[in-house]
Amino acid sequence: MIDKSMKITLQGIDLKNFKGIRKFSATFDGLNAVISGPNGAGKSVIADALNWLLFNKNQAGESSFGVKPIGPDGEEVHYMEHSVNAALSIDPGAPAGGPETGHTVTLCKVMKEKWTKKRGSQTPEFGGHETTYYIDKVPKKESEYKDYIAGLVREDVFRLITSITHFNAMKWQDRRKLLLEVAGTISDYEIIVSDDRFSEIPGWCANRSFDDTLKMFRSQRPKINDELYKLPARITEAEDAKPAELACMPPSGVPAYAELTAKLTYLQNSRAAMMAGDTSSIRERIAAKRQEIADITNEHRIKCHEAEDTIRSIQNKAGELQIKLAQLKADQDLLARELMVLHQRRRALLADWRLNRQILKATSQDCPTCGQPLSDDNAQAAEMKKARLETAAANVSRIEEVGKAKAARVKEIEVSLPKIEKEIARISAEITGITDGADAVPMPEPPDMGELNDEIAKLERELKSPGAVPTEVSCIDDKISMVQAGIRAHDEAAANRKLSSQQDERVTELKDRKKSLGIELDALDSRIATMEDFIRARVSRVTEEVSTKFAPLSFKLFDMQINGGIAETCETLVPSPEGVMVPWGDCNTGHRILAGIRIVQVFSEHYGVHAPVFVDNAEALTMPIADIGSQVIRLVARDEAINHGVRLHVELQTAEVAF
Ligand SMILES: Nc1ncnc2c1ncn2[C@@H]1O[C@H](COP(=O)(O)OP(=O)(O)O)[C@@H](O)[C@H]1O
Ligand SMILES: [Mg+2]
Repeated sequence: MIDKSMKITLQGIDLKNFKGIRKFSATFDGLNAVISGPNGAGKSVIADALNWLLFNKNQAGESSFGVKPIGPDGEEVHYMEHSVNAALSIDPGAPAGGPETGHTVTLCKVMKEKWTKKRGSQTPEFGGHETTYYIDKVPKKESEYKDYIAGLVREDVFRLITSITHFNAMKWQDRRKLLLEVAGTISDYEIIVSDDRFSEIPGWCANRSFDDTLKMFRSQRPKINDELYKLPARITEAEDAKPAELACMPPSGVPAYAELTAKLTYLQNSRAAMMAGDTSSIRERIAAKRQEIADITNEHRIKCHEAEDTIRSIQNKAGELQIKLAQLKADQDLLARELMVLHQRRRALLADWRLNRQILKATSQDCPTCGQPLSDDNAQAAEMKKARLETAAANVSRIEEVGKAKAARVKEIEVSLPKIEKEIARISAEITGITDGADAVPMPEPPDMGELNDEIAKLERELKSPGAVPTEVSCIDDKISMVQAGIRAHDEAAANRKLSSQQDERVTELKDRKKSLGIELDALDSRIATMEDFIRARVSRVTEEVSTKFAPLSFKLFDMQINGGIAETCETLVPSPEGVMVPWGDCNTGHRILAGIRIVQVFSEHYGVHAPVFVDNAEALTMPIADIGSQVIRLVARDEAINHGVRLHVELQTAEVAF
């Protein structure tokens, strides 16, 4: 297989007074080689020498390192020439089947101290260092020399493709950049089509970058969250700001608003009229007060009439009873007199009766004159006797009859009299009762018109005096203030109702906001999650791509954080014999060497340049190194015999296979 990349190999190298090496010369002929020697023999110095020759730095990339040998006294040895001379074969890489275009170039760099004697002085003074450059033995200016090397290979590339430790000694950010460069651009499109959910991402990004869009979404989140967090308190606040229900009600006992405003207008007009000198109101009031007096007087008169009527009717009744009483007394008197007459008459009758009875008794048996029984021979006498008897008998019967009649009448009167007496007593009592009642009928007190008359007098005075209005005005002002207070109460209730409905609106608004923010936050979270998934997909895709390029090595390019975020990182992972991917830092020297060689190989292929690779501490490696297309010079710590004062042993590896 023809390698089209440029290949630089070391043909040979000479060192003079370079660091700890006084003199060293080796020929490699572009082959792999092993430089062995005990510790401190100067193996690493050779690698430093090549780097110094090309880039004025040691293998570790340091420019300020001591090139000059240090003497036994610990001081730099002066007045020496320090030089490195190397023959490099440069094969720029021929197209397939094309001619070999390689050539060899010798590069030489000589550094020496500058010592100058000042005029008049015997002792030379140190004036810095002087470096001379040669390309193919032709002296060159520093700039020409540097340009030539820069034309061969970039310093950073050279270091990547010649040092097996350089890559892992770099800052992780620089390492990561390089790896992604090697992996090549992985298009977002490739990842978008890998999952339906990602298809919306371009729309979200619009004309922003993916990172900016995600940054924007993430920055929106705390704002929404913060607002959402504060909303319940704001809702409560708005609810609390609502006035009490009672304060929104029209005030009880206060007339309706329209009534009050109409009254206010009327009062204000009245007041204005008063202020303008209109006294009609005073006159009206005087008239009203007089009317009041007339009404009260009239009422009193009616009440008096009523009382008088009552008394009169009582007196009438008493009069009627008096007449009745007089009648009864007359009757009583009459009966008493009749009774007395009857008693006299009865006494007279009794006497008459007794007389006639005696006549009867005497006439029938004896001569009433002599008391001798009467003889019938005296006819005349007999006749007389008979007549006498008959008269006496008639008298007795008549007297008895009259007596009986009189006795009946006496009895009748004796029954009537107590009755009349009783009636007289009853009526007398009744008359007394009625008379007392009449005395008890109250006569209405005459009304006191003093106050009203005073008011009238006062109003009349006001009417007569020019300053009569103020009292009226202050009176009307009081009414106006009362009406205004009523209107204010209405206004306050209305304002409270308005505030209440405004607060209700605010609460609804805030609740709506809460709802919409919740939806917004969900949508935002979903977008962030999708975009993070996209990043993860890209991460694994990139990791996969990089790891494929560097297999069997792999790289950790992202750190999944506990909070779900993804942080960039760069860690080389080296497969252990057990198949575990071990981080570079935890690897043993041998595996680090193998990993370093693989990295050098990938970068060499990537940049299309192969250059000599110095594998320091190669004694730590028990495995062979595969052919990576570059010349590999292993530096092995091993005791070697001193050969002409040089303790380094160079062994060339002619075999093309791994060594
Ligand atoms: N400027 C210097 N002058 C003299 N000796 C030096 C100087 N720098 C390094 N050394 C010594 O040179 C020797 C070669 O070192 P090095 O190449 O690292 O040895 P190794 O063969 O183990 O890789 C060491 O003993 C070191 O101490
Ligand atoms: Mg060493």
